[in-house]
Amino acid sequence: MGVGILGIGHYAPDNVVTNKDLEKIVDTTDEWIRSRTGIEERRIAKDDEDSSDIALKAAKIALNDAGITPKEIDLILVATVTPDTPFPSVSCMIQERLGATNAAAMDLGAACAGFMYGIITGKQFIETKAYKHILIVGVDKLSKITNWSDRNTCVLLGDGAGAAVLGEVSEERGILSFELGADGSGGKDLYQNDDRLLVMNGREVYKFAVRQMPQSAVNVIEKAGLNKEDVDYLVPHQANIRIMEAARKRLGIEEDKMAKTIQNYGNNSSASIPIALSESVQKEKIKDDDIVVLVGFGGGLTWGAVTIRWGK
Ligand code: ACO
Repeated sequence: MGVGILGIGHYAPDNVVTNKDLEKIVDTTDEWIRSRTGIEERRIAKDDEDSSDIALKAAKIALNDAGITPKEIDLILVATVTPDTPFPSVSCMIQERLGATNAAAMDLGAACAGFMYGIITGKQFIETKAYKHILIVGVDKLSKITNWSDRNTCVLLGDGAGAAVLGEVSEERGILSFELGADGSGGKDLYQNDDRLLVMNGREVYKFAVRQMPQSAVNVIEKAGLNKEDVDYLVPHQANIRIMEAARKRLGIEEDKMAKTIQNYGNNSSASIPIALSESVQKEKIKDDDIVVLVGFGGGLTWGAVTIRWGK
C-alpha cells in the first residue's frame, strides 16, 4: 500500500504588509529586501488571530479537499514553534473546534522543517495500519516572536498555515522516500531568546541551507531509486529565493517547475512548504503521477525531505 496526500489546503491572514510598509519601521529598502530575499510582501495576523485560528481554517479546507469528516481523523499533528500556549496544544485546540472527537492530538516542533517531520511521522502510523487518516498542519504566527526593531530578521518573516490529510493511496503512488536530520550544534544560530524573540545569525543559516537543502533533495531522489531527471516539481522551504535557486539548479530543473510563493508570504516557517504545495496544486502545476520533491530546513538545526509520486 502507498501512503500519500488525500487532500490539502492553506490559509494566510488577510492583512498584507509590504516592503514599503517596513521601510517606515526599520532602516531598510524595498530594493534590498527584494534583491537579497525575493520577498515583496507578507501576511501578518491581527492580535486576536492566533496560531490555532489560522490552523483551523487551513485544516477545514484540507478535510474538505480530502472528502473526509472530522470524525474520521485518527490523529492530528500540528507542527509549530508559535503555539497559542505550550498547553493545551494547538492540535488539541483544533481537535475540539473541528469536532474531531476520535483523534489523538499533539504538537511537534522542528521550526521550518516541522511540516516535513509531521508528514514523515504520520506516514509511520498509516503504514503500520494503526491509523487511517492523519491531519498534518504546519502553522506559525511568527509575527508574535518577531523583533520588529531588528532589520536582519523582521523583513523575512510572516504568518500562515497549510494542512494535509494523509492516508492510504494506491500501491505505486504516495511517499516513495524520506530523509530527516538534525544538527543541534547549530542551535545557537537560530533560536528564541529570553524575551521570546527570534534571533538569527543569517550568514551561518544561509551557508547551512545552501548546502543542506540541495543535498537532502538529491538524497531522497536517490533513495527512491530515481534520477534528478525524473523530478517533475520541487517544493522547497520558502526562506530566501537564493537558497531555493541553489536547490533548483542542483536538480537541474526549470524555473516554472519550482513552487515560488516567497514573494507573497515571506518565510512563515512550518507553514511555508504546505502553503507552497497547496497553491501549486490549486494552480494545477502538479498532476497525477508527477514526481514531487518537498524539502525544508529550519531552526534546531533541522531538515527533512520527501519524494512523492502524486495522486491517490
Ligand atoms: N535592510 C537593509 N540592510 C540590511 C537588512 C535589511 N533588512 N538586513 C541586513 N542588512 C545589512 C546587514 O546589516 C549587512 O550590513 P553590514 O555589511 O554593514 O553588516 C548587509 O546588509 C549584508 O548582510 P548579509 O548578512 O551579508 O546579507 P545577505 O546577503 O547574507 O542576506 C539574509 C541576509 C537575507 C538574512 C541571508 O543571510 C539569509 O537569507 N539567511 C538565511 C535566513 C534563513 O533562511 N532563515 C531560515 C530560518 S527562519 C526561521 O526559522 C523562522
